[in-house]
Amino acid sequence: MRIVVLTGAGISAESGVPTFRDDGGLWEGHRVEDVATPEAFARDPLTVQRFYDARRRAAASARPNPAHLALARLERRLGDDLLVVTQNIDDLHEQAGSTRVVHMHGRLDTALCEACGARMPVPGDLADDATCPVCGARALRPDVVWFGERPYELDRIDLALAACDRFVAIGTSGAVYPAAGFVLTAAGFGAATLELNLVESEVSLLFDEVRHGLAGMLVPAWVDEVLQAIGPGTP
Ligand code: APR
Repeated sequence: MRIVVLTGAGISAESGVPTFRDDGGLWEGHRVEDVATPEAFARDPLTVQRFYDARRRAAASARPNPAHLALARLERRLGDDLLVVTQNIDDLHEQAGSTRVVHMHGRLDTALCEACGARMPVPGDLADDATCPVCGARALRPDVVWFGERPYELDRIDLALAACDRFVAIGTSGAVYPAAGFVLTAAGFGAATLELNLVESEVSLLFDEVRHGLAGMLVPAWVDEVLQAIGPGTP
């Protein structure tokens, strides 16, 4: 059984990483146009760097919760038949043990050089005018996809969506495309679709089945169901 899981900020909420659009979420305290667009970075790079430096410091102490751990457990059974596509820029899926993870909106722990295109582990706070170790330019930016930019690895994601038997969205509000449209792509190719979220999302109506609750409860229960349905196998 081939499964594609799409995760959003809701899966990391129980690990203490704030979501974007809930009460008290990041977009309540910051305007998207000030910190998460290429225009904002061109206008006021220091503010943008400080915003992501703060995100990186906060995420550094976060640990995976039972939802991340359950997906890693599922990968151990399914191998290449499971792909986790995450909109999250934290590394909690990797910390939990998942290895087949696409970070379609980038990652906090890598930096991107605007001068030469090199990617590298973040050397420290980027607000400190860090220098690219490859070309020497002071042109490092967060390796995150901002509004108006093209998400990473869309071709790989499309192939996986077209080939999957099940598509499951976890902890995402369905407010941002193209991720919010993945359910339609997967369903169009015949996949059964399931949404696991705290409350109704903007795209709940597009799913075959919707379950409401905490990711830390819903995801382990769903993984148990899948493992029981497919039976034991070589890990
Ligand atoms: N368990 C399950 N779902 C939860 C939990 C939880 N513990 N806590 C919150 N949620 C749900 C919320 O109800 C909401 O529907 O998770 C969803 C989080 O939605 P957003 O904050 O909009 O996050 P996300 O969907 O990941 O945002 C998409 O928007 O700002 C951009 O690039 C950013 O990747 C992000 C994208």
